[in-house]
Amino acid sequence: MNDDLNMNAPLHQPKVVVLEDSDQVGARAAEIIASTIRDNPHSILGLATGGSPIRTYRELVRMHRESELDFSAATSFNLDEYVGLDGGHPQSFRHFMDDNLFSKINIDLQKTHVPDGLATDVQTHCRQYEDEIRRSGGIELQLLGIGHNGHIAFNEPGSELDSRTREVSLTAETIEKNSRFFDSVDDVPRTAVTMGIGTILEAKRLLLIAYGSDKAEAIDKMIRQKPSLQCPASLLQYHPEVTVLVDKAAFGG
Ligand code: F6R
Repeated sequence: MNDDLNMNAPLHQPKVVVLEDSDQVGARAAEIIASTIRDNPHSILGLATGGSPIRTYRELVRMHRESELDFSAATSFNLDEYVGLDGGHPQSFRHFMDDNLFSKINIDLQKTHVPDGLATDVQTHCRQYEDEIRRSGGIELQLLGIGHNGHIAFNEPGSELDSRTREVSLTAETIEKNSRFFDSVDDVPRTAVTMGIGTILEAKRLLLIAYGSDKAEAIDKMIRQKPSLQCPASLLQYHPEVTVLVDKAAFGG
């Protein structure tokens, strides 16, 4: 793998906010998303799945119910989806989003986008996904988690800086980690459709959340080491507006 990025583009230090615990990380991320929606009700949001955003979505649901946070004009694009899973499958990311957020707020489901895990022509579907993001005007705020191996979305180590939405193979490590959501490791799909790193870097602002000591090594590589294809999250240093919300354990102390 050629890891010599040789980029002339300037590097930026992400804004790192260290919070007490995962509840505070979730609440702060929700505040940032809520203020984005309040500033522009027509916001285009980039959303993520996994364990990390669950508290954030819970908090957004609470704000919708108690403070009338209004999602009716908003649009969303999710980062990724397993190939081979129908949107109704309990482990599909479409189902995760419906269950944790979309069914509990007043977003128009027609304006929520998750890659289709059953697309017959995956390449065309990926191109169309990119086109839809572009046609919508581009993502205002992209929420991200981080994998233990530094992946963002399903861009595993080695993913190119200019990669776009495409089908990718999951690493053995990611399959193993994600098997916690499935009955057995054999049930975890081997490939997924994911936005590329190039796609993610085009969002106007990025918001990455992480908590727990098991994320400390990935966070360290992301924020303290020079960008490397070996740690996809470190490539976010090429983006000028990145906020990282971590608890003390993920920050490494
Ligand atoms: C999910 C995604 C993944 C996760 C990452 C961390 O849409 O794109 O990159 O953000 O695997 O997962 P959790 O939050 O479960 O630790």
